Formats: sequence, structure tokens, C-alpha cells
Amino acid sequence: MSLFLKKPLSHLLADAAESEKGLKRTLTAGSLVALGIGAIIGAGLFVRTAAAAAQNAGPSVVFGFIVAAIGCALAGLCYAELSSSIPIAGSAYTYSYATMGELIAWIIGWDLILEYAVGAATVGIAWSEYLNNLLVNVLHMKPIPYALSHSPFEHSVDGLQQGMINLPALFIVALLTLLLIRGTQESAVVNNIIVIIKVSIVILIIIIGWGFINPVNHAEYIPKPAVYKDHMGVAHNFGGLMGILGAAGVVFFAFIGFDAVSTAAQEAKNPKRDMPIGILGSLAICTVLYILFAHVLTGVATVEDFRTTGKEASVAFAIEKYMTGYGWLGQLVTVAILGGFSSVILVMLLGQSRVFYSMSRDGLLPKAFSEVHPKYKTPYKASWFILILVGLFAAFVPGDIVGDMTSIGTLFAFMLVCAAVIVLRKTDPDLKREFKTPWVPFVPILGIIVCGAMIYGLGWTNWLRLIVWLALGFIIYFGYSKKHSVLRRTGESVVPNDPNPKIVE
Ligand code: ALA
Repeated sequence: MSLFLKKPLSHLLADAAESEKGLKRTLTAGSLVALGIGAIIGAGLFVRTAAAAAQNAGPSVVFGFIVAAIGCALAGLCYAELSSSIPIAGSAYTYSYATMGELIAWIIGWDLILEYAVGAATVGIAWSEYLNNLLVNVLHMKPIPYALSHSPFEHSVDGLQQGMINLPALFIVALLTLLLIRGTQESAVVNNIIVIIKVSIVILIIIIGWGFINPVNHAEYIPKPAVYKDHMGVAHNFGGLMGILGAAGVVFFAFIGFDAVSTAAQEAKNPKRDMPIGILGSLAICTVLYILFAHVLTGVATVEDFRTTGKEASVAFAIEKYMTGYGWLGQLVTVAILGGFSSVILVMLLGQSRVFYSMSRDGLLPKAFSEVHPKYKTPYKASWFILILVGLFAAFVPGDIVGDMTSIGTLFAFMLVCAAVIVLRKTDPDLKREFKTPWVPFVPILGIIVCGAMIYGLGWTNWLRLIVWLALGFIIYFGYSKKHSVLRRTGESVVPNDPNPKIVE
């Protein structure tokens, strides 16, 4: 039973009030939507869409986006209820601590590392691809050598070049960590500008690209089921329903980030009203853009392109190869997306540092992670540690692998968030909820099913990676966190589902 010690909600809310002294409350509903879009549109759209088309679904990646959007909307409705009733930093981790107990909270917190830290690494790797595109196609210079811009586990499609370390990915992550340590307010201003540019670019590609759709590329919108082996020898389910589910799991990455809004609850001016607006608003805008964008991209270039020469920096490639007369657009996209990716990385690093901050305040991680910088008021020690973690993934693991690990970890966390809504309605029916998830338990259960289907689509290699990751998490929990838990040491805990909760000494 003691593994399921719950943090009383009253303590959480008191924590929130107290920690206001630490973090600054500066974010409005508008800046939260911008924070959301800043986190959402990025490598998922500009890199993973083409990967999903190549490996899983061809043009039916569009349906993959629809499945992923449905899963996110369902989980988003659950997130909105939780973040409006428990408005403090820490995202799904915090909610589950109050609803399902410490062990589940730990699992989610550990899982969120996959979402934020490994996700940031994925986008860093995408940044590296587009940087090379900038050097070659915009500045007409030589690219950074293959060995210095790819992980040791990759070789080029022609098999002639071998990767060693991804230096540009490492560089961008380090640069943004420094910016983050300087403070949220400053980074939010930069973020707002980037969001405007990013959305404009996506709309421009949709409008101009529509005229370049080649109907031949869309002739077989849902390809027949087959097994596709990529140039690294990895087999993928291509076409049919499994292809669509696999693609949904891959492009699910493109939606990750709307929940990062919830990690900034402690810095929102009016969290109860603004969190649901921030989460669902940013999700809705991106869904429409994604569906149109995927339709255009798979109509302009072929699946074969995305498997070979257009495997990297795919969107710029498609524009440069097929959209005659719009070379400037390809160049603009490349420049803009480098900024766009940066804003995504920034929000993910921010989310990760806030999750570590909360876990550290609870004693599940070392105290240093919640030390706030005396001048900038940010958890700077957590940020330094995250830089090391993200840097290792960015420099030494291929983008496809970290991308899918991010997706599967986040999907798993989303399933637990959906479950948390059902649990909290039962255990705390009277809790004041500014926003209520409609049709509970139908919506959360459907959310669990749709997210579960995407996990299924991602295939056994990814299931295995998730299992290994969780096993590592258990070792740390039982080796360190359980012993250092503040809740256990101070006795401020209740046993869940106990009709007469008692303070345990
Ligand atoms: N959704 C974010 C992206 O697409 C993580 O890059």
C-alpha cells in the first residue's frame, strides 16, 4: 500500500501558493497559446511527417494525423481538467501524485523525461539536418561533414559515409539552455515572434504547394499492406490500417507540446481560466494546419523521395525539387524552421526543468534540482543537468529512434493522465474544477484506447525501449527516491482510497 502514498491536494495547492515566491507569474492566456504553438509545430511536421510517409503510410499519413489528433484532443480534455483544478508546476507528474500515488507519479515523471528531454534531442537532430540544408542551399557553402552531424549508429543512404557525433544538435541544445537559465519572460518574447513566423510559413506552404500537388502521388492514397525495409535494415509495416496506426504513432510527435503548457501553470497569471484555453486552443490550431500540410507534402513529392535523397530536411527538399520558381520559399522555410525548431526545444527544456523542479521539491530527485537562481529565478541546476542528458541523446542517438521513443513515452503518460481524471472524480468529487472533461468516463477511456492503439502501431522495438526505460526508472525509484521522498519523511501523507485518511507518522 505504501507505494501508493498520495499527496493531499490541499498540500499541493499550499505548495503552489508558497512557490509563487520562487517562480514569477508572468504568462497570460495569449502567451500560453503561443507557448503551446511554439512547442507544437516543429520537427514532427517538418521531419517526422516525411518519415511516416516513407516508412508507414504514404499519403495516408494524413489519416495518421487525424488519429493522433483525436488521441491528443481526448488526452487534452483530461489535461485541461487536471491543470485547471491543480494549477501548479509539474504537469502530469503532479496530477498523478495527488490522484494515483507516489509510484505512479514517479513512473509518469520518469516517462516525461522521454517526452521533454528525449523530445528536445529529437528536435535538436532535426535542427542539425536543416542547418546543413541552410549551408548548402541558402549560403552555397559546404555541409558539415556527415561524420560530425550524425550519430555513430547511422550511415548515409548510399552507404559511403558513417556518422560519429552530431555536433550541431549538441550546439543548439547548449545555446538554448543558456537562454532558458536567463528566465521565462525573456524567452517567451522570443518565442512569440518565432510562433508568428512559423505559422506563416506553414500556411504559405499549404497555399502555394496546393498548386503543385501531382495527382499521381495521391493515386493510391492508402497503399496496400507490405513490409518496407529501410536503408539501415529496419523493417516497418507499410500501408493499410497498420501503416496508418504506425504513422499515427510517428507523427504523434508533431502534437507533443500542447501539454507543456500545463507545466507552466505556476507561471500563469490566472491558471484556472487560462490553462484550458492554452492547451486546447493551441491543439486545435495545429490540427487543422497539419492535416492540410501533410496532404500537400505527400502530393508534391513521392514516397521514394522521402526514402532516399529527400530523407533529410524533407520539406525544403520537396520545395526545391518540385516547386519550380519557388526556390525562395525553400530558403525561407529553412531559415524560419531553424528558429521554429529552437522555440520547440526551448519549451521542451522548460517543461523538463519544471518537472525536475517539482520532483526534486518532493524529494524524489536530489534537492539541487529545485534550487532557484538568485537573480533569474529559474531552476538553473536542473537545467545544467538536463543539458548533459539531452546533449548525450542529441549527439549519439539517431533521430528516428529518439523520435519514436518520445512518442511512445508520451503516449504512455497520456494514458495515465486519462486514468487520473477518472480516479480523481471518484476520490475527490467535490474538488473545484474550473474546466470539466465532458462525458467522463467515456472521454478518458476513449483517450486510453486511442493512445494505446498508437503504441501498438509503433511496434515491438519501441515497446521494448519503453520497457527498458521503465525498468531503469524502477531501479532509481527503489534505490533513491523512495528513501528520500519528503512525503514519507515528514509523514504528510494519506493512503489512497482510504475512506478516513489519516496523517501517517
Ligand atoms: N511537437 C513538437 C515537434 O513537432 C515536439 O517538434
